[in-house]
Amino acid sequence: MNRIFSFSLVLVVSFTLPGYAQRKTIDQRVDSLMKLMTLAEKVGQLNQYSGREVTGPASDRKNYLLNDIKNGKVGSMLNVKGVKDTREIQSIALQSRLKIPLLFSLDVIHGYKTVFPIPLAESASWDLDIIKQSAQVAATESAASGIHWTFAPMVDIARDPRWGRVMEGAGEDTYLGAQIAKTRVLGFQGEQLGAVDRIMACAKHFAAYGASMAGRDYNPVDISEQQLHEIYLPPFKAAADAGVATFMNSFNTFNGIPATGNAYLQRDILKGQWNYKGFVVSDWGSIKEMTPWGFAKNLNYAAEKAILAGSDMDMESEAYKKELENLVNNGKVDLKYVDEAVRRILYKKFELGLFDNPYKFSDEKREAKVMNDPKYKDIAKLAAQKSIVLLKNDNATLPLSKGLKNIALIGPLVNAKRDQAGSWVVYADTANMVSVYEGLQKKYAKNVKLSYAQGTGIDDALTNGFPEAVNAAKNADVVVMVLGESWDMSGEAKSRTDICLPGQQEALFKAVKATGKPVVVVLMAGRPLVFNTIAAQADAIVYAWFLGDQGGNAIADVLVGDYNPSGKLPISFPRNVGQIPIFYNYYNTGRPVTKPSDIRYKSAYIDSPNDPRFAFGHGLSYTTFAYNDLKLDQATLQKGQSLKLSFKLTNTGKVVGEEVAQLYIHDQFASIVRPVKELKDFVKVKLKPGESKVINFELTPEKLAFYQEKIGWTTEPGTFKVMIGTASNDIKLEGNFELK
Ligand code: NOJ
Repeated sequence: MNRIFSFSLVLVVSFTLPGYAQRKTIDQRVDSLMKLMTLAEKVGQLNQYSGREVTGPASDRKNYLLNDIKNGKVGSMLNVKGVKDTREIQSIALQSRLKIPLLFSLDVIHGYKTVFPIPLAESASWDLDIIKQSAQVAATESAASGIHWTFAPMVDIARDPRWGRVMEGAGEDTYLGAQIAKTRVLGFQGEQLGAVDRIMACAKHFAAYGASMAGRDYNPVDISEQQLHEIYLPPFKAAADAGVATFMNSFNTFNGIPATGNAYLQRDILKGQWNYKGFVVSDWGSIKEMTPWGFAKNLNYAAEKAILAGSDMDMESEAYKKELENLVNNGKVDLKYVDEAVRRILYKKFELGLFDNPYKFSDEKREAKVMNDPKYKDIAKLAAQKSIVLLKNDNATLPLSKGLKNIALIGPLVNAKRDQAGSWVVYADTANMVSVYEGLQKKYAKNVKLSYAQGTGIDDALTNGFPEAVNAAKNADVVVMVLGESWDMSGEAKSRTDICLPGQQEALFKAVKATGKPVVVVLMAGRPLVFNTIAAQADAIVYAWFLGDQGGNAIADVLVGDYNPSGKLPISFPRNVGQIPIFYNYYNTGRPVTKPSDIRYKSAYIDSPNDPRFAFGHGLSYTTFAYNDLKLDQATLQKGQSLKLSFKLTNTGKVVGEEVAQLYIHDQFASIVRPVKELKDFVKVKLKPGESKVINFELTPEKLAFYQEKIGWTTEPGTFKVMIGTASNDIKLEGNFELK
């Protein structure tokens, strides 16, 4: 009787008292459990296996994994999904002595059943509300399918489009990246862990993975301490502050030390300075990869380095499983390090409510109900619309005019379905993605003839389809070409040295353009591409990334004017690979180019301008916006105060539109050189034709701080320029103030 009473009391207390009291209660439950655990069982909690082989056909590895699960040697599985499989595997874990439930994790990166735009595309929306909704839907669907934990968001700042993983992040800017990191974490997790329609998030890859040398995956990183803190860490800090449940470390080195074995990153910064309470999972095999790095001479040493450096869970290295007990028993690793890691992991299992109900997320009825909910398609469509960036629109070629009779659809991606689903597809049926052809067909029914010619493949040497394409163009009023990369040319391990449009696609464009017909180019890709001829000669260019489920519908909406594009580039588009790394917040140098006609002994190229083809923040609309009346409420900003800025934004065109107004600053002189521009705020506003709105921004000294080696974050008195504009290279209003 007493036991039942105290058990239910613990339950009641743990569910009703938020914050500190809840933490204390969970801490007590973790303590009680840990007292019962053997060292082997503790190490088991730190071990994560991939479940592909567990749910697949019988094999030696399958038996081995199942035995480990049954014997309490596994804390978490990745790649097991669906109520049936997660239930089955959980039931095996519950046969272990202490019946500790497993955590099921998966790369739910841009949707689960419903496919959303790739993260880079969604970041082009600059719309935190839709980004949050997209993460919420992904969480709801995957949580209904037995998943507790996603390996997202990837919050790596990426300034190198050769790197295939640019598709997975928020682009090149730290401020935008931090806002999006926080939003995605809150979208996946909700305010508090434990809801059955939310999952744990994971801020990855800690840290600085986006700075991989030469844009090559798994490569070293060699950046200054100042760049680490100023450019690469703030999105991680934002995720931590938003309560992200887990971090994943990364495949790269920092200061010559692999991130997985890097105590400075994980212990000093993350768990020390930031007082982070969640747990850190290694990246796949990154503990054992410290050996080929030439850092750990064997698996034993790798396990020691990783646990001491603060890597709590071992994903698929089997380093902890094989080595940690010995390391503790022979005194190389103090038990306290193992205990700390176990404690962090168990804490999350309690927080999720898995000890109270290990099958909480594996409910068949909920799974059937949640999957295929039509309202998620609407959210996916809105996300896709908002992610599209109109790069160019000469002579108002778009939206397509009403009286068209014949449109030629040309190019290898006109009928693309799988490609639009992007790199990380975990559950969706990619045959259900809507192609551009299908999207336009719905718009035009029988009134407009759509003729189609592929012309060439995505990465073909062949040009024998050109005559058919040219013919189709000749018979059309307007041509829509859909060109780009295939889905598997970006993503993990998909770095490219040549980011021009692959194959013969630009040649196809030239042949089609030579017909004299207006040509609209829709580009699909997981990264910024180089497409100089198209940039110069196309009448209109729509950058459509990989938009997911509803891509074709969203693109058709933009082409016909049912949706007015509002996306802005979250990353610079180079003119050629030689400019990389290229980003808007560069330094001026001692020899800046002040007149493009005079580059002698200036910091310039003799064969290319310095500036990108399309700048960070750029994106057109079917309407126009005027920026007026910049006001700063004071000429000086004192410590502890804030400076208020306001200006008037007006829709001066003929249709409703959304504008992303961007606030940049420039710290004119400082004890370390400062970037020419730094984004400090933005707002996305919808205005009717003729409508105006006063927009307010606020700057605090903290927002003006920079990181100085040996000193840390600091502010310095001096003059700051403020710039408000529609793109980083299209500033409309300027002012100055003094920081005291
Ligand atoms: C390796 C990737 O780097 C990481 O982002 C991913 O979460 C894991 N594999 C698990 O699939």
